[in-house]
Amino acid sequence: MDRTLIILKPDCVQRRLIGRVLQRFEEKGLAIAGMKLMRISRELAEKHYAVHKGKPFYPPLIEYITSAPVVVLALEGPRCIEIARTLMGKTFGFEAAPGTIRGDFGASRSYNLVHGSDAPETAAFELSLYFKPEELCGAAPADAAWVFPGNDV
Ligand code: RTP
Ligand code: MG
Repeated sequence: MDRTLIILKPDCVQRRLIGRVLQRFEEKGLAIAGMKLMRISRELAEKHYAVHKGKPFYPPLIEYITSAPVVVLALEGPRCIEIARTLMGKTFGFEAAPGTIRGDFGASRSYNLVHGSDAPETAAFELSLYFKPEELCGAAPADAAWVFPGNDV
């Protein structure tokens, strides 16, 4: 089963948008396999965003993601990585299309409400950073066959 790591970032939580943003993923048909509120430590943030080390936005990115609590989610479903990235929209809120999470709620480069893994390898790595295996449930929602029919070709 495909899984992806989503983070509702500090601005999403502080702006009381947890419910509305989570609803976007839920109503699309992705299942929640793990979910928790946490404060990301500097050490964890540096592991997660190691790929961006040395870039000009790296120091403010670490400050931002560690500045207040976040909600981390493991979402599950066929093509969930691609589906989640499409729902999120382009990185910068001022470029993201209306109807996407960042397009509807974001206006800046850095405060863009959500993180989503960008490939199967990064999803596996990021899920292992934020969740112990026993914290994840096989979600299997009752309507799954109506969202992901077996006859898709
Ligand atoms: P994410 O990893 O958070 O899902 O976002 P993304 O793939 O769309 O964007 P990425 O290039 O991986 O950048 C990671 C996060 O760094 C901040 N950022 N700021 N000021 C800037 O030019 C800039 N560029 C990136 C954003 O918070 C972005 O989500
Ligand atoms: Mg990224």
